[in-house]
Amino acid sequence: MKYQDIIEKMTIEEKAAFLSGKGEWQTRDFERLGIPSIFCSDGPHGVRKQAGAGDHLGLNASLPATCFPTAATIANSWDEELGETLGQTLGEEAMAEGVNVLLGPGLNIKRSPLCGRNFEYFSEDPYLAGKMAASYVRGIQSKGVYACPKHFAVNSQELRRMAMNSVIDERTLREIYLTGFEIAVKEGKAKTIMSAYNEVNGVYANENKHLLTDILRDEWGFDGIVITDWGASNDHALGVAAGSNLEMPNPGLDSARELIAAVESGKISIEDVDKRVDELLDAVMTLYVNAQNKSDKFDEKAHHDVARKAARESAVLLKNEDNILPLKPGAKVAIIGDFAFDPRYQGAGSSLVNPTKVESIVDIISEYDVQVLGKSRGYSRDGQEDAATRKEAIAMAEKADIVLYFFGLNEDSESEGMDRNHMRIPQNQIDLLKELGQVNSNLVGVISAGSAIEMPWHHYLKAMLHCYLNGQAGAGAVMDILTGAVNPSGKLSETMARRLEDTSCYRYYPSSERTTEYREGIYVGYRYYDTAEVPVLYPFGFGLSYTTFEYSDLFVNAEGASFTITNTGKVDGAEIAQLYVGLPGAQVFRPKKELKGFKKVFLKAGESKKVEIPFDDKTFRYFNVKTNKWEVEEGSYLIMVGASSADIRLTGNVSKAETTKELPYVPHQIPSYYSGKVQTVDNKEYEILLGRTIPDGKWSGQLSVNDAICQMYYAKSGLARFAYNRLTAMKKKADAKGKPDLNILFIYNMPFRAMAKMTGGAVSMDMVYGIVEIVNGHFFRGLGKVISGYFRNGKLNKKYEAKLKNIAE
Ligand code: BGC
Repeated sequence: MKYQDIIEKMTIEEKAAFLSGKGEWQTRDFERLGIPSIFCSDGPHGVRKQAGAGDHLGLNASLPATCFPTAATIANSWDEELGETLGQTLGEEAMAEGVNVLLGPGLNIKRSPLCGRNFEYFSEDPYLAGKMAASYVRGIQSKGVYACPKHFAVNSQELRRMAMNSVIDERTLREIYLTGFEIAVKEGKAKTIMSAYNEVNGVYANENKHLLTDILRDEWGFDGIVITDWGASNDHALGVAAGSNLEMPNPGLDSARELIAAVESGKISIEDVDKRVDELLDAVMTLYVNAQNKSDKFDEKAHHDVARKAARESAVLLKNEDNILPLKPGAKVAIIGDFAFDPRYQGAGSSLVNPTKVESIVDIISEYDVQVLGKSRGYSRDGQEDAATRKEAIAMAEKADIVLYFFGLNEDSESEGMDRNHMRIPQNQIDLLKELGQVNSNLVGVISAGSAIEMPWHHYLKAMLHCYLNGQAGAGAVMDILTGAVNPSGKLSETMARRLEDTSCYRYYPSSERTTEYREGIYVGYRYYDTAEVPVLYPFGFGLSYTTFEYSDLFVNAEGASFTITNTGKVDGAEIAQLYVGLPGAQVFRPKKELKGFKKVFLKAGESKKVEIPFDDKTFRYFNVKTNKWEVEEGSYLIMVGASSADIRLTGNVSKAETTKELPYVPHQIPSYYSGKVQTVDNKEYEILLGRTIPDGKWSGQLSVNDAICQMYYAKSGLARFAYNRLTAMKKKADAKGKPDLNILFIYNMPFRAMAKMTGGAVSMDMVYGIVEIVNGHFFRGLGKVISGYFRNGKLNKKYEAKLKNIAE
């Protein structure tokens, strides 16, 4: 062990206390041992260092920092260099604000467009998500700050996120939900990982030895620390044995006592504890040294410019009929839509950044060569009808040559802590769009939304620029593109399905019970639409430009593919070329095509460039559940190069030999997976895919410490049901106001045990057991436990603190 000398000096009390947090964001320091404290902060698209009281939901303000476009946005750039630059600027700001570990990027797979946190995640595709995450990690860590890819793993649902079991077959786990993390670890060399809230196949992610030791540490060679998501720890002793280091945020000393008891009873070994302490010491010591002589300033202007560049590269032009864009110089436009005044540029929850400044369209439009005939908010953001404003907007639209309509998802549509239950934008925005379309056919839509939306109204618009959530400098980037100063080059990192009902997990998401069954298997996003031949509105990888590109001269050999791209239009621009691989007639079912490489190439008008995309260890592999290894099937693989998943321009072939004769499936037993038509997989087929019986996820009559507070709906105690009803009423009231209350949402979805895990030692697990007894209808027995637990906890906390103090002296 690297820090043997320190570990030998540490008492078991110090070791156990070291493995959980002090306060909302920090680790514990031990002066006598020379162990400093390190500071963690969100987040993925801007530093959220709270100066005052800490909370992890973005409730209390944080220090001003640059708000970059969110991950869902940046993924549309398909630009790893940009990801690295963003990482560097994030790392620089983190360093300047005294943050040692930046809690991001988030790279959970967008299993369903409904996940409330999709705006924080990169893609529906693990290869793209992994490459982008790795680029962030490289950038952040180059500045001496550790990145923390999250949430490991299979955390694609917000509803009851802390009390939910993701039931998934090993192949889907490996190919779809872990490959991105594998890339972030192996190629990005991430030094920390955040374990997710949920269980994976019945074991909490933070206690999951299969995930944390077998795969993360042993297979991928991860040599950093695992940090729990805030409140994700269930039994930290099991966590430590499974490979997790740091329980966050502040469970107090109860958790440390549990750890000591586990060592004493032989439940876990002291060697496991020492190993975790050693890894954590390595992180703490390295980060402490890295932060010496740091600058406490960063260049706000330069970082704002990076945010603007990032927003420019990530906007996706979905439609451009009659080449209505770019706007001609001096074009007479009407600016309509609330988002033009108050941009929707980031999402809600723990990633919320306090921006250094925010641009809006109405503030900056005068810097551009357009004639503005009028500006109107048009609709009200909270979804209410506002006849006067609507009338004003329509009158302006009548006079204008072109209407620029700024609209999309409002703040209460998507947020950490909740999932959407539909994919629509507010109806009042659609109504206005239709009315605008009746008075002016030259409508240009500028969309802000962090996740995929249904667009049945797209016919009303001649052009659509999808900006996702484009950060504090988004408005300038939008105007640069609309006026042609910048040629759009973003491409969708997720499919725009025609309707929610078309998504592969439509019937399985979100789970209504304790388990969420990943019945659709590997058919997520375009893997599904493509294989099952479900038409979509805009396919994965799609995006237009003001110029055109031609692909030619594909050469494929064992090492990779090369081809030529020519800019055949009149303006300079960048093209994102994508390489997909398929195996027609495969014996092991697989999607028709899967992304295995991409390159963004900048070309001057008329210019040609040769592009090379090498194959790698992921190009042909599949996870074989029989050999329990990555294998390659024999056959002639189809290499597809194209401008999107649905626009393949060149094809070639390459032959591969098999790596095993043992095939994992009997095709006629699982026909849905062979056809890709996975929307209605029955129990029998799903059990074959799983390789075991489907766990019963039904809520039992008795609630446990691991059930969510919102399950008090089932409580036997009238008092608990009253509390549930109060909480639900508060939630509904907040929802109706158009702004979800994150605090209530968090409490609603958290399990009872979190009361002990996030209260700095004020509540012990004994007390939580008592509370749950009350909830289950045993009022006096439960109350007795709460009261005795309270006194015992206070006494034991004092004793522990005294011990730490005595040793320190
Ligand atoms: C979120 C994490 C975040 C943490 C700290 C949790 O609720 O899931 O993504 O890093 O809070 O704010």
